[in-house]
Amino acid sequence: MDFLTLFAIYVVVVLICIVLVCKYSGQQQTPFNALLNNIGKVVGPFTPKWLQTFSQRTLHKLFHQRNNMFIYLHVLLEGAVYAEFTYEVFGFCREMDTTLSSLSVPYVLLAIKTFFFYLCIKRDPGTVTKKKVSGQLHIYPYDGRLFQPGVSCPTCQLVKPARSKHCRVCNRCVQRFDHHCVWVNNCIGAQNTRYFLLYLFSVCAMAGDIALLTGDMLLHAVLRSGLLTASYIDDYGQQQPAGPLFVVQHLFLTFPRIVFMLGFLIFVFFLLAGYALFHSYLALVNQTANEWYKSRGYVCQHCHPTAPADLPTDHTKRYYYSRGLLPNLGEIFFPPLPVQKKHN
Ligand SMILES: *[C@@H]1O[C@H](CO)[C@@H](O)[C@H](O)[C@H]1NC(C)=O
Ligand SMILES: [Zn+2]
Ligand SMILES: [Zn+2]
Repeated sequence: MDFLTLFAIYVVVVLICIVLVCKYSGQQQTPFNALLNNIGKVVGPFTPKWLQTFSQRTLHKLFHQRNNMFIYLHVLLEGAVYAEFTYEVFGFCREMDTTLSSLSVPYVLLAIKTFFFYLCIKRDPGTVTKKKVSGQLHIYPYDGRLFQPGVSCPTCQLVKPARSKHCRVCNRCVQRFDHHCVWVNNCIGAQNTRYFLLYLFSVCAMAGDIALLTGDMLLHAVLRSGLLTASYIDDYGQQQPAGPLFVVQHLFLTFPRIVFMLGFLIFVFFLLAGYALFHSYLALVNQTANEWYKSRGYVCQHCHPTAPADLPTDHTKRYYYSRGLLPNLGEIFFPPLPVQKKHN
């Protein structure tokens, strides 16, 4: 395969990854989803009916019903990266005298990540049930703004505790609801936000570590090839240094799979690091993603004196409920349990 074909495949794979990731994030209002909807509208009239219904059904199944598809996809991608790392990078790194202990870090991280991933999937996020609801109602006071007292969920027919939300995918109300995550096929709520955070950080560490090892390996390969000091004779008979384009082309042709993997890992790393930072920020200021989205419409008139008066105002903005960083973290890692009322 020549360089351009490979490069084209590479770009397509990266684009597909971006599409998948944007779609999974599940927030209806991402600019990407708007774009996708518009594309759908434009191509719609030209696609056969059966294809339309098929894709609609598939999307519905994937994103609006509980299913393990993304868990399988997750394991598949991980398996591919680890197979590639083990069979190609590992041996090369051993040859360059990278120590065994630094080469085993990715496997340790894999074990840690799998543990948190499992807990995210298996842990009940804090489902509001008939039995527990009376205790769950007392965990948080209603703020009268985002959460009003005495509102019942029309589906579950139970009074909604403050900070809870009905998850349409799982069809249940969840206490301290954060969001529904398709990658773990579970809601993130009071009881598993801590595992979700640890999971995000361990995936970042995993991707970052493998990317570093792979980058180091490619660097050594380039140094070894002598391309950095090589030169060629151009059409006019002048001697020219090989330059970075030659190096990239050389790497693409010599280690196509490894270069693919490295690009994928760097992409995943930055994406998830951003996501992990956002969720850490939320944890530190005692907010759920749900509350964050809901309170976006509120305008602080103190900061925006020219804002129209009929917009909902909230002077205290988003920090209102924070009693300090440590207590906020404490609440994530030791979530308050529903008060059990004793019957006498
Ligand atoms: C977090 O916010 C809730 C209300 O949304 C409040 O009841 C709770 O006490 C706060 N926790 C901390 C640690 O500040
Ligand atoms: Zn409900
Ligand atoms: Zn859910």
